[in-house]
Amino acid sequence: MTSSISKQVIGFIGAGNMARSMASGLIANDWPKNNILLSDPDGAQRQGAQQALGVEIVEKNASVVDRANILILAVKPQMLAEVVAEIVGPLAEKNPLIISIAAGIQTNDLVRWMGRQAPVVRVMPNTPALIGSGACGLFANEHTTREQREQAETIMRAIGVTVWVKDEALLDIITALSGSGPAYFLLVMEVMESAAIKAGLDQKSARLLTLETALGAAKMALESSEDPAKLRHHVTSPGGTTEAAVKILEQGKIDQLFSSAINAATARSKELAEIFGKK
Ligand SMILES: NC(=O)c1ccc[n+]([C@@H]2O[C@H](COP(=O)([O-])OP(=O)(O)OC[C@H]3O[C@@H](n4cnc5c(N)ncnc54)[C@H](OP(=O)(O)O)[C@@H]3O)[C@@H](O)[C@H]2O)c1
Repeated sequence: MTSSISKQVIGFIGAGNMARSMASGLIANDWPKNNILLSDPDGAQRQGAQQALGVEIVEKNASVVDRANILILAVKPQMLAEVVAEIVGPLAEKNPLIISIAAGIQTNDLVRWMGRQAPVVRVMPNTPALIGSGACGLFANEHTTREQREQAETIMRAIGVTVWVKDEALLDIITALSGSGPAYFLLVMEVMESAAIKAGLDQKSARLLTLETALGAAKMALESSEDPAKLRHHVTSPGGTTEAAVKILEQGKIDQLFSSAINAATARSKELAEIFGKK
């Protein structure tokens, strides 16, 4: 991490799961602890975050805004309009870079709530970010500078890989792909494990073999220069066991099933943006 970036004070509004993961990723990447500050109205959350991170956690959101150069909005989407209304005064004075991780809230809605042309980077992280293996989409509005986009990139890379989009609407697809995606893979693991148990394998072995196979396949695909389709063909011998299984999955129209699933999640992401953003 470059020293000029880590001199910035990062403030988190909300000290929940995602804020704590991001803060601990930053600390692991040598961001100075005294340049990280969180706020949360809940005493128990403050105490838990303080113990986990060893950084300052305050009660009042406005105290964070007063001190932060970069402000991360890490409350639930349904709380965000209210939170922004509460800090709109100090925000106007400080004009920090705003990074919003709230699912579905569009940058235009945030700008409208703030009543001015604020620099906003909207981010869609996913749950594996909680263990530093996130995959996150980012979009910057037209009021951000190149330096601010680099700052957002540095921060999000502390908890995983990043992909930028130029069109904010693509964040709905990213929400459907990597945002909701961990659940799809967990579902596949769940059904593979239970199929093996039904076929006669013991639960412990079925679990271990399923999880290690998922991890191994992902690692293999990440480390290879070949695309997943080619890799799959390499491991599918004609007339073999893998081919027998894949034929069944294809007959069940796995491609159409996933296409419908991603489309449904994309549509729901847009609907939620309407519900939470149009306050
Ligand atoms: N977790 C994920 O995998 C994930 C993935 C993608 C996006 N996100 C987004 O990340 C955001 C945070 O999610 P999360 O899982 O970290 O949620 P979370 O654990 O519930 O954290 C939100 C925190 O904000 C606090 N809070 C509530 N009202 C507040 C207020 N007025 N001022 C300051 N803090 C307040 C909450 O306190 P209380 O508990 O007392 O309400 C809680 O500690 C959400 O917008 C979500 O859409 C999360």
